[in-house]
Amino acid sequence: MRGLTGKNIVVTGAASGIGRASAARLLEEGARVLGADITPNGDRPIADGEPDAWAFTAVDVTDESSVAAMVAEGVRLFGRIDGVVNAAGVAGGGAVHMVDVAEWHRVLDVNLFGTYLVAKHALTQMLEQDLVDGARGAVVTIASIEGIEGTAGGSAYSASKGGVVILTKNMAIDYAGRGIRVNTVCPGFIDTPMTRNIFGVMGMETPRRDIIKEHKLGRFGQPEEIASAACFLLSSDASFVTGHALVVDGGYTAGRDHGVTEMLGLSAP
Ligand code: NAI
Repeated sequence: MRGLTGKNIVVTGAASGIGRASAARLLEEGARVLGADITPNGDRPIADGEPDAWAFTAVDVTDESSVAAMVAEGVRLFGRIDGVVNAAGVAGGGAVHMVDVAEWHRVLDVNLFGTYLVAKHALTQMLEQDLVDGARGAVVTIASIEGIEGTAGGSAYSASKGGVVILTKNMAIDYAGRGIRVNTVCPGFIDTPMTRNIFGVMGMETPRRDIIKEHKLGRFGQPEEIASAACFLLSSDASFVTGHALVVDGGYTAGRDHGVTEMLGLSAP
């Protein structure tokens, strides 16, 4: 990908899953990465590359002073912040009459309020930076297909991700004139610790099978397949892309099948 070498990128949720894969891919692309996570597990996601291209700091994306300190650390290390991938997130929700208020706030706090806080502090820094190749920076949020269509029991999670999608579009409008692009990735179901925890619970075997089938490619995605989309949106290959919700979902939201591909003999490789 063009334009990532030597760029300074902050990745939240960098200890696991999509955030960790994004950090690894950015290092492979020659970027410098400040990984951040509430889990103080700051080991480098890949072995090769410049030794000083990787740093880690603890952050709680729901705590404004913690987010401000993370951005300040990025500036201290790198001098400027060219990009952010906000992958910190939590699963949660349930049918609304069963969701207690604390659970609602927990999910909205991390997924939506946390996305706002990280964007707020990153954008404040980016606005102060000089233009480089016509750009001050790029922000990538991680929403979900559950932010663009409903899912049974989604409630708080879906609401948080729907919020991330529209917040991203609004930010794209607000900052385009200042040379900052803002986009979101909407993953389908991805094989990470988050989904392993959900589908590891007894009784989830049938929903899991059905969900796999809804992905027309017949499988969960891999975190690396979301990382490559996030890196594309940060890179100068996406220099004309802003305000976009990039669905990376193996065809989950493409539409319904209703067994017709099987009837047509198109369901097997
Ligand atoms: P994960 O559970 O593997 O990683 C999430 C990371 O966020 C963890 O390392 C966790 O410690 C960190 N985190 C949680 N709360 C935090 C906080 N308050 N401050 C800082 N870090 C915090 O999950 P995964 O699957 O990698 O998810 C990453 C993002 O992608 C999340 O926003 C998730 O909602 C989203 N997503 C995931 C999908 C999936 O199927 N795995 C599908 C669609 C979206």
